[in-house]
Amino acid sequence: MPTTHSFDRYADIMLALGDPHLVPLPAAETGPPGSLAWLRANVARFSSGEDHARRRAAVEADLALLAPGEAARAYALDPRRDDERLRVVRALARCLGLADPHGVALAVRTVAAAYFGTADAEAERAADAAVAWLLPHVGGEGERAANRIGLLVQGCEATATLIDHARRATTAHPDTATLLEDTLRRNPPVRQLRRTAVRPTRVAGVEVGAGDLVLLDVVAAHGRPDAGVEEHRPDPLTFGAAPRLCPGRAQAMALATAALQPAPPESGAAVAGMVDHVLSLAATWTAWDGKPVPAGDRVYTPHKAIRRVADHLTDHLAELEARLAGEPTEPDHWHASATTTPADLAPFTPDDLDEARSRLTRLARIWSHRLGALTPAQLDDSPGGGWTFRHLALHVSDSVYYAEAVGDLSATPNMTTTEGLPA
Ligand code: HEM
Repeated sequence: MPTTHSFDRYADIMLALGDPHLVPLPAAETGPPGSLAWLRANVARFSSGEDHARRRAAVEADLALLAPGEAARAYALDPRRDDERLRVVRALARCLGLADPHGVALAVRTVAAAYFGTADAEAERAADAAVAWLLPHVGGEGERAANRIGLLVQGCEATATLIDHARRATTAHPDTATLLEDTLRRNPPVRQLRRTAVRPTRVAGVEVGAGDLVLLDVVAAHGRPDAGVEEHRPDPLTFGAAPRLCPGRAQAMALATAALQPAPPESGAAVAGMVDHVLSLAATWTAWDGKPVPAGDRVYTPHKAIRRVADHLTDHLAELEARLAGEPTEPDHWHASATTTPADLAPFTPDDLDEARSRLTRLARIWSHRLGALTPAQLDDSPGGGWTFRHLALHVSDSVYYAEAVGDLSATPNMTTTEGLPA
């Protein structure tokens, strides 16, 4: 009958984590390629021995492409202000050069909800579908692709939780680094680590039999005054320890630091950031193969994406001006994304790119000047009903959706996204 052993002292936990006879609970069984069970059976996280060493090397090779500073920059420039888990994964996906970072983030979030095996049957099924969708979207194949998905899944929930815990900290801190350091110890995102014994072993004088379960209480270990934590300032246990020390630690800290910057981008900067991102994608569209790209129940082409971004900016700017002037807004006669016109299907030439650049940059500047002329109170007001102007600016910043539907055509074939704007 397996016994459960619990440890809550820093030094004992370090011994257990370094013990080669204690391994993470392995994935129960594998499943068909592209299923959640297959993913679990192929990632470093749930494996040990040679499998672990090889898979960990694959993860580290990927992380070498993911400079922490770049991850922070991608996070800060992301115009969307949505779920923190999505923001974290989009930043990582952008740094890995994946097309459709938003689609990848949605799928990774779904996988993360079931990855550790505690989800219900419905969440497991959703995760199966998400893994199958992710496989052709992350580059590489087989074990390599599985570990790339594993890396994104590992980063998703834990980093978002760290950001959330740091934002909710009640004590004042002199700077972001101290705030994060303190959060990692007092309210860590990973609170407990688990191991099972593959052979009999002994941890801090306790006999552990083969098959026994070992629970390592990270929160208690950090909280103990006798743990030597303050004295030696060892690493926070929430990132684990060698040979499985979290390989994404630097990226997690860079993302969290970016997330906690005191001043979020102003509304005008969010619109400008959106246009920058759209134009960086558009710069790859002269390679478009002429086939409309499906996204949800719509299709997109380069010209159509530019048309939608420009019309979306124009539409809501007209709304904003009308409401400020106390006049009714124009009735909605847009065909928006529901139609794909012959002009939308035309090739996207370098001249078209130039024109798009001139058009969208000017529209972003008009938005920026208009928003900059409003007081904070006006920005949070909603004359004539509807969204506040601040909300309107963020909504318009979501126009990246149209461009991401077409995607980055320099790297991989066209991708689809699974969620977006209604129009
Ligand atoms: C605050 C955020 C994070 C925390 C607290 C965290 C914590 C951990 C811990 C405790 C482990 C080891 C689990 C064990 O020994 O049982 C781990 C493994 C791992 N983490 Fe993180 N992590 C974070 C963010 C990230 C990020 C951003 C990435 C990727 C960019 C990442 C990638 C991984 C991978 C691939 C593994 C498996 C490594 C292996 O099995 O050798 N993590 N993480």
